[in-house]
Amino acid sequence: MAASSDLLLQSETLSKTYHWGKPNAFTAFADIHLSIEAQTCTLLQGASGSGKTSLIAVLSCLDKPTAGRLHILGEMVSRLPEKFLTLFRRQHIGVVFQHFQLVEDLPVAQNIAIPLLPWGLSSRLIASKVAEIAHQVGIAHKLEVKAGFLSGGEKQRVAIARALVNNPTLIFADEPTAHLDQANATQILQVFQDLKHAGKTLLISTHDPWVMQHPLVDNKIRLQDGRMVAASQI
Ligand SMILES: Nc1ncnc2c1ncn2[C@@H]1O[C@H](COP(=O)(O)OP(=O)(O)OP(=O)(O)O)[C@@H](O)[C@H]1O
Ligand SMILES: [Mg+2]
Repeated sequence: MAASSDLLLQSETLSKTYHWGKPNAFTAFADIHLSIEAQTCTLLQGASGSGKTSLIAVLSCLDKPTAGRLHILGEMVSRLPEKFLTLFRRQHIGVVFQHFQLVEDLPVAQNIAIPLLPWGLSSRLIASKVAEIAHQVGIAHKLEVKAGFLSGGEKQRVAIARALVNNPTLIFADEPTAHLDQANATQILQVFQDLKHAGKTLLISTHDPWVMQHPLVDNKIRLQDGRMVAASQI
């Protein structure tokens, strides 16, 4: 794949088959060709089970593709060994997980701080970064509360704060407004819009019509049974 320099992310024939080579093999997505420009917001749509979360796991370097190529920020990440892939992800990528994946026994502040831990920062700097991002997403009043005691909407905010605290270039958010009412979803979309204006690149999966109509969105991709059926530029 000849990577174009103005593209932040490019994939070619990207595919993921779980349990590859076994009787229970299942192809979650196949032949995904994607081109994402820097400082844009791409929306990922598709019915439940169409492969959105699986695709986000591979694009965000949390999981390896079974086939195809993935090029991000000038690096052919699909060829990187595990150790370098993890390092690349920590440096450049933030992920808001569909099911939050918080450590329920830890306070909110410690959950948000997790991506900062590998960098050996002082506890004072960590606390100030956590406080700043928690304020931005509206969860600063719960920093000392254990994540397990939060409401769904509050957990969603913690998951968003944790994805952003490391100041990543590329942000993947898997149904980030699913547990928020419209007023709170609007606030989170404003945070995403501010991030885009600050130079970040976003890919957001959603079922939420409110998100689909938001001016933040530049491009839309639709998955159907793991295949890209339409990619439209707004
Ligand atoms: N680890 C796995 N092993 C086997 N099959 C899996 C695995 N993870 C996901 N799948 C299957 O891959 C398909 C796509 O799942 P995925 O979670 O990516 O869909 P989705 O579009 O995110 O759905 P939703 O909108 O419900 O979140 C599903 O049929 C699912 O059962
Ligand atoms: Mg999903």
